[in-house]
Amino acid sequence: MSMSADRQDASSEDGTWSTPDARDAGVSRETSPSPEIGGGSTSHPGAPHAGASHAGDLHREALISSVPEVDEDTPLAAQLALDARRRLELDGRRFPRPERTRIITVANQKGGVGKTTTTVNLAAGLARAGLKVLVIDNDPQGNASTALGIEHRAGTPSIYEVLVEDEPIETAVQACPDVEGLWGVPATIDLSGAEIELVSLVSRETRLRKALDRYLDERTARGEEPIDYVFVDCPPSLGLLTVNAFVTGREVLIPIQCEYYALEGLSQLLKTIELIKAHLNPELVVSTILLTMYDGRTNLAQQVAAEVRQHFPDQTLRTTVPRSVRISEAPSYGQTVMTYDPGSTGALAYLEAAREMSEHSVQRADLR
Ligand SMILES: Nc1ncnc2c1ncn2[C@@H]1O[C@H](COP(=O)(O)OP(=O)(O)O)[C@@H](O)[C@H]1O
Ligand SMILES: [Mg+2]
Repeated sequence: MSMSADRQDASSEDGTWSTPDARDAGVSRETSPSPEIGGGSTSHPGAPHAGASHAGDLHREALISSVPEVDEDTPLAAQLALDARRRLELDGRRFPRPERTRIITVANQKGGVGKTTTTVNLAAGLARAGLKVLVIDNDPQGNASTALGIEHRAGTPSIYEVLVEDEPIETAVQACPDVEGLWGVPATIDLSGAEIELVSLVSRETRLRKALDRYLDERTARGEEPIDYVFVDCPPSLGLLTVNAFVTGREVLIPIQCEYYALEGLSQLLKTIELIKAHLNPELVVSTILLTMYDGRTNLAQQVAAEVRQHFPDQTLRTTVPRSVRISEAPSYGQTVMTYDPGSTGALAYLEAAREMSEHSVQRADLR
């Protein structure tokens, strides 16, 4: 079904690319040469990396500098060199722990912009780098649950029971089978009724926050290792489920698809966030914007990216996520691309984005 469609979608019009990886190649370059391309070895000077010894770092640097510079006119070669650098740079790397749990709501009321894909892949990337990560699937479609490979058939304890029936989050948490240090709270079909059921409940906007804060506090009280990151995946609307997610999060991550109308609706989203901030959650900040499904061969994508960076210079991650067949295939195997094809361009892009985010915990005072 969708797999063959995905393959067709992703093949380039000129038919130059012949393999999935080759089709991925050449599409992640925003402007070239750019500091975010091939700059992996030099773009994070002095950033702390837990567990990386000095000698290990020197060895890694030497390997990275041995990857030849390539002519920017050959996109495939440039992409392969970038991937090689990223693989060397990121393989086995441990990312810094945030001082306190970062709770990140992934939102955009547009559908299909990469919210779920971003949620699960950043989460898996951070977990792969040694951090403890919890994903809350707050979308009745349950796509994040599918990608994490966690049970979400009707009747499974889920975020619905937490939101509507006051069950503790602990009863619904499942370990992700493929990635150590990654857990998920699934969404089942029941959640599709929650938007309406919540209306008549007390403290309808703050139910998720209370449940999550309690869960995190109880873990600490029991002496368990703290969770480093919580991601809340949102449905494509600004209803009560999304409001609950905004009240829960201390940060918002907005994925933006580099396509027509990408910025349409963004002002409404930002207005909603301001309202939440004014009335329900003064801490909330839009900390991170990630450009997804980036196709650097089109002027449009480059224009959208430039415009987003101009408006949100501090929030927009340098790393962009290319359109990648491997990324879109992974959920049909109940996996993130981090385990489905860890060496692919898409997995490396998400891992690099995860590293950038993790370094913000150390570098940005507003996130400490
Ligand atoms: N970088 C990417 N490359 C190719 N396909 C992608 C990419 N990111 C997302 N997709 C696909 O696009 C569709 C929408 O993505 P999704 O993350 O579900 O968006 P949302 O959660 O915002 O609705 C999905 O089929 C997903 O597999
Ligand atoms: Mg989604």
